[in-house]
Amino acid sequence: MNLLLNPFDRRCSRQHDFPEMQGAYPWVGHLPAIVRDLPALLQRAEAMLGNHFWLDFGPAGRMLTCAHPDAFALLRHRDVSSALIGEIAPDLMGGTLVAQDGEAHRRARDAVKSAFLPKGLNQARIGELFASLLKVQVQQWRDMGEVAILRETSDLMLKLIFSLMGIPARDIRQWRRKYKQLLQLIIAPPIDLPGLPLRRGRAARSWIDTRLREFIQDARAHAKRTGLLNDMVGLFDQSGQDLSDDALIANIRLLLLAGHDTTASTMAWIVIELARQPALWEALTEEAQRLGDVPIQQEDLARCPVAEALFRETLRVHPATTLLPRRVLQELPLGGRHIPAGTVLCIPLLHFSRSAHLYEAPEEFRLARWLQRTEPIRPMDMLQFGTGPHVCIGYHLVWLELVQFCIALALVMQKVGVQPRLLSNVEKGRRYYPTAHPSSAIRIGFS
Ligand code: HEM
Repeated sequence: MNLLLNPFDRRCSRQHDFPEMQGAYPWVGHLPAIVRDLPALLQRAEAMLGNHFWLDFGPAGRMLTCAHPDAFALLRHRDVSSALIGEIAPDLMGGTLVAQDGEAHRRARDAVKSAFLPKGLNQARIGELFASLLKVQVQQWRDMGEVAILRETSDLMLKLIFSLMGIPARDIRQWRRKYKQLLQLIIAPPIDLPGLPLRRGRAARSWIDTRLREFIQDARAHAKRTGLLNDMVGLFDQSGQDLSDDALIANIRLLLLAGHDTTASTMAWIVIELARQPALWEALTEEAQRLGDVPIQQEDLARCPVAEALFRETLRVHPATTLLPRRVLQELPLGGRHIPAGTVLCIPLLHFSRSAHLYEAPEEFRLARWLQRTEPIRPMDMLQFGTGPHVCIGYHLVWLELVQFCIALALVMQKVGVQPRLLSNVEKGRRYYPTAHPSSAIRIGFS
């Protein structure tokens, strides 16, 4: 943590009566610590300053970070706005539904949400489609004997989300690279020069949008074709003049991003945890053997408690979305204090996900906390997907594809008597922001 914080910044300042965390660097603020060791930064700030403190996100400005899990409910508050997301990353999130409030948000969300509910997923036979793609991919890993896991899961997730959208999955590596550059726009310094992240991110966006525009034209030319992209184009076209092609492109770009980046990270963490904890692998292979094949329908998931617990516990320990930014529209009470209108908030999902207020022994990876529970899953149990009007659209899809993935992996590897083995240091190179993921250098062997 030492050099991640600026040792010369020892100010004890306050803003709106909330303390500011020390250790900010000029221009980039606390970003080095946020990107590389967010859990330690949040723990240290909470221990020094209490539940509410300002963190400096460099180009995105300061945010009042609310470290107590009670702040999770703010995501459901009608006086808390998501528009800030579009202001922080206008090139990436501007015009997308995640950065909209109220009626505009509802209309854009309605155009896609039913396709992602269990009924929509079953109707589109997504389970069958994914099961065969997943089996082919893990067989390839087995034959390769060793893989750079994050690169592999990113390519796999892009293939899956493309097939779900009904878009031809060509140039997958190129798409992965472009999305990686696009994500840098969230933390890019506002300097538009060749070779710098802002210029590269904008070029990546233009590359992506040109292709999406072609897919939309193609969808209009083949209106009878099935697939989410065709459905979205149809719905947007029927909805009147106010939804332009730019809004359609922005939302498809968002779906491709949301549908692959977070899930690829979680999938990579699942393999890493299976590789470093042989007892997990044993429990999973027993379950896979009992099932005999990869589950296809949402209803089949109840027969895979170990795979489901693995998906939930991996996300709890390694949440893929670590922080959510919001703006307060009207003065709000919080923890006996008042947050003035206009305040920019940071809701740290990662901190709640590992909080002793919510979980017994939060630092331990325990499947038992899911296997032994008898009550149904509550919003707080899936806090890694947010809550309120913007709660993740892809929750049921992720649940299905990650359980399918676990079972496919266990069946394919077990058939030839191999299992995942960790070949790299896990702590080195992991990132927590703008999205969280293990290092792309981590290699997994199958032997
Ligand atoms: C492990 C995987 C995933 C995690 C942890 C995750 C997490 C989240 C979170 C925390 C939010 C709330 C954002 C906010 O309130 O500002 C969100 C929203 C969203 N997610 Fe996911 N997500 C995942 C996978 C997916 C997938 C697979 C899709 C779709 C294919 C998807 C589509 C979306 C969309 C469209 C939104 C915006 C919803 C809205 O603003 O109404 N996500 N996700």
